[in-house]
Amino acid sequence: MAKNKTIFTCQKCGSQSAKWLGKCPDCNSWNSFVEEDYAYPSSGKPKERAALYKEEPVLLKDVQIKESNRIQTDIVELDRVLGGGIVKGSVVLVGGDPGIGKSTISLQISNQLSQKGHTVLYVSGEESVAQTKLRAARLGHTGSGGLLYIVNQTDLSLIAEHINKLKPELVIIDSIQVVFEPSISSSAGSVSQVRECAGILTQLAKTTATTIFLIGHVTKEGTIAGPRVLEHIVDTVLYFEGDRFSAYRILRAVKNRFGSTNEIGVFEMGSEGLKEVSNPSEIFLSERPKNVSGSVVVAVLEGSRPLLVEIQALVSRSSFGYARRRAEGFDFNRLSLLVAVLEKRIGLSLEAEDIFVNVAGGIKIEDPSADLAVALAISSAFRDQPVLEGLMVLGEVGLAGEIRSVTQAASRINEAEKLGFKHCILPANSLKNLNTKFKKIELTPVATLKAAIDIASGQAVKSK
Ligand code: TYD
Ligand code: MG
Repeated sequence: MAKNKTIFTCQKCGSQSAKWLGKCPDCNSWNSFVEEDYAYPSSGKPKERAALYKEEPVLLKDVQIKESNRIQTDIVELDRVLGGGIVKGSVVLVGGDPGIGKSTISLQISNQLSQKGHTVLYVSGEESVAQTKLRAARLGHTGSGGLLYIVNQTDLSLIAEHINKLKPELVIIDSIQVVFEPSISSSAGSVSQVRECAGILTQLAKTTATTIFLIGHVTKEGTIAGPRVLEHIVDTVLYFEGDRFSAYRILRAVKNRFGSTNEIGVFEMGSEGLKEVSNPSEIFLSERPKNVSGSVVVAVLEGSRPLLVEIQALVSRSSFGYARRRAEGFDFNRLSLLVAVLEKRIGLSLEAEDIFVNVAGGIKIEDPSADLAVALAISSAFRDQPVLEGLMVLGEVGLAGEIRSVTQAASRINEAEKLGFKHCILPANSLKNLNTKFKKIELTPVATLKAAIDIASGQAVKSK
């Protein structure tokens, strides 16, 4: 029998404690500890479990690796994010805010694979079979010509039975937060349940070579465990990002045991589901205003792919006692640092100015090579002076106001040249290491932020 005891679990990060805590010592969130009955995973129903997931140890030398262990979905943006297709027997967690499109893409993947002759089981715990059918109809999928099974089930032992009976190659669990294992007394969606269910499904995936997609809602608060508590269990973690109210969605791999991370796929949500966007740079720049101060373009690297994005800054005199600073899509601490460098090294007096920085298109930037673009956007907005037309800038800004080199400058410049950019300001060191020649774009190396500002505003004579 399950041996239960009471334990307090942080619903944000899964940290556990024997007593209730107001603030989680691991993730610093407040009021996130909830009392749960914790059943030791080793208890439960050992006999039944042993029968379901029986596997004997084998010698390393005897392990056979099959060649074709990836299935292409033919959704190019997704295959790239996964590192070249779905790996058989892997567990993929798809996280994201409610309503962002997790069920939609899962159904599209299911349809795609079933049409290619693979058996797929879609376990919809949140929506009825009829609702799923309606969604499929909206996406233009009839289901004929393939084996796509749908079941509305939340009991994990029954789901495992279906998997063992149908032997599908792909199983979608939509969502992991509604699935429950009856031997654990906590309610569905609690950390214990979510973790235990994911653990059992992972074992099942490994022993039956079934690929399992777990869908997890990102929750801001409340008693539902977020997908973060599962990140260490699964092989691949994909997050769906983007503004619910804009059409663009970015699928990002934050962990991938079978490919590189930070790879992104760009999709557009339309009336017939998610469509791939193969030229994201063009889309992100399409609404860029011409000849306006505070707008600078940078080529950031997202995984293996350069992406041109527009950084916008607005600087206006603060009407309150203190100056406000806001960053959307860019790290706030990084913004504070750049403002300090602009004040100290360039001499801009920004202390009484409100500063807002926004990355257009709803994309989030982590690449430090966007520093220079942010600094130039702020200085351009402050002086109300647009930067040169057709300019793309690259560079990390150091505390001394120096411009540091960026990785893979050539592929970034190439992307800018392709889209008709005429000038590129880049770190002097990056230019030195550049082997490629560019004909249509003029490259201007800089060593300091001061020089970059002068050149971008057209005040300095460009030195080749
Ligand atoms: P959904 O996949 O249900 O989100 P999640 O599973 O992540 O909660 O997506 C729901 C949203 O997408 C909803 O607001 C409706 C919209 N949508 C479209 O715009 N077009 C479509 O073809 C579909 C299926 C959904
Ligand atoms: Mg859903």
